[in-house]
Amino acid sequence: MTKQSQAFPEGFLWGGATAANQMEGGFGEGEKGLNIADVLPGGKKRLSILAEPGFNFEIDKETYTYPNHEGIDFYHRYKEDIALFAEMGFKVFRMSIAWTRIFPKGDEKEPNEAGLAFYDRVFDELHKHGIEPVVTISHYEMPVNLVKEYGGWRSREVVTFFERYVHAIFNRYKGKVKYWMTFNEINSGLMMPIMGLGFSIEKEEDKFTPTFQAFHHQFVASSLAVKACREIMPEAQIGCMIIFAPVYAFDSNPENQLHALQEERLFNYYCADVQVRGEYSPFVKRYFEQNGIELDIKEGDLELLKEHTVDYIGFSYYMSRTEKKHKSAEDNVHGNILSGVKNPFLEASDWGWEIDPIGLRVSLNKLYERYEVPLFIVENGLGAYDEIEADGSIQDDYRIDYLKKHVEAMRAAVNEDGVDLMGYTSWGCIDLVSASTGEMSKRYGYIYVDKHDDGSGTLERRRKKSFYWYQKVIETNGAELSLSTPVES
Ligand code: BG6
Repeated sequence: MTKQSQAFPEGFLWGGATAANQMEGGFGEGEKGLNIADVLPGGKKRLSILAEPGFNFEIDKETYTYPNHEGIDFYHRYKEDIALFAEMGFKVFRMSIAWTRIFPKGDEKEPNEAGLAFYDRVFDELHKHGIEPVVTISHYEMPVNLVKEYGGWRSREVVTFFERYVHAIFNRYKGKVKYWMTFNEINSGLMMPIMGLGFSIEKEEDKFTPTFQAFHHQFVASSLAVKACREIMPEAQIGCMIIFAPVYAFDSNPENQLHALQEERLFNYYCADVQVRGEYSPFVKRYFEQNGIELDIKEGDLELLKEHTVDYIGFSYYMSRTEKKHKSAEDNVHGNILSGVKNPFLEASDWGWEIDPIGLRVSLNKLYERYEVPLFIVENGLGAYDEIEADGSIQDDYRIDYLKKHVEAMRAAVNEDGVDLMGYTSWGCIDLVSASTGEMSKRYGYIYVDKHDDGSGTLERRRKKSFYWYQKVIETNGAELSLSTPVES
């Protein structure tokens, strides 16, 4: 194979990905309101605290720390950070808009000018460096007021508030943002309803109907966003965003094969089927019947879903899952918000996420075969502990190795399998607060940020070895994946 054929198609969108709540800081500044991430405590128990019935969405500084309040202070340091992204050669930068900067409580009639102006400054700075923003409209950042007063996405009224938010940002940024995504990892609401859907499941409550009703509202909201995007900025592209983790059967036992298929159908495809194909799949309709789920679908909803489908599928890929029908508690391994049984062929990260580059090629093939729309890997990466060497350098060869193998897998999917892939934005291109654990020590970045789990640190930025590696990858459009140049400290 020639060097040329090993590269990615011209115009491939290389970059990095982040979310407002995990990096901005600027807590309460510019009249920002409180969002779900602001009430998430730091530490490994974060998700279990959240899942406790009756979680009250209040800040309790006596008991917990709140690392998202400061993030990595992108709110004040965005110019420095964007200059570093430009130095790596980023073509795009994935970020999200904090809904609560634009509508602090979510239900106001008019947007907050200070919030709108902040993102104007960020987009202008990106363009100054030739970087296109890729914007997630909602990344686990629902206003707490909507959670408390309306029950999150359970309420149909929230669709109206979301539509207002979308119109405000589309009208303001129409000349500045070409790539949009509606809800981050929308299918995560199946596992983690608080972050995705804005409510907790009370013990005695039937979880099925409220969960799928909330999803229905998000699907309607997503289609309304697609519709608005076409009307307000027809040149822009808008996608959905899902977690994709291919499910392998533990062995060739047909029972396990069937089980893996069933697991995959609900988690991996349920949302994309609606957002890409424009309708609930026959499998999901049957699932609703079997579980007594009756949705309140308003007149015109189904037509809206059918008519306003997304342009592309954005997805996060961190790991695959392996499943068998009959498993004991000891068989279980956890990673991300997903669990499964241990795959004997795979190693795991320090946080137990199984590392599977070939699984990315499998995912790209599965998604493209099913939907035949362009794909965009908008998250992928290795959360790892980094050490600063005596000479000040950070030799993160483990991260380079992980990323290299994943880029090789996607290159094969594109060049050998014919998958239409728009781009790649690896997760946490600059270290930021972990979503699932609230830790800083779980680092993904090419850029190190001097901030620690106890909140200490100068916030100074430092280039890791992987910074230079990625710079070379982008410069050669993915043809060169090994690092041959010397690394400065
Ligand atoms: C995805 C989220 O699930 O994974 C990000 O969209 C998150 O917000 C990323 O940060 C990595 O997960 P974590 O828990 O290691 O931060």
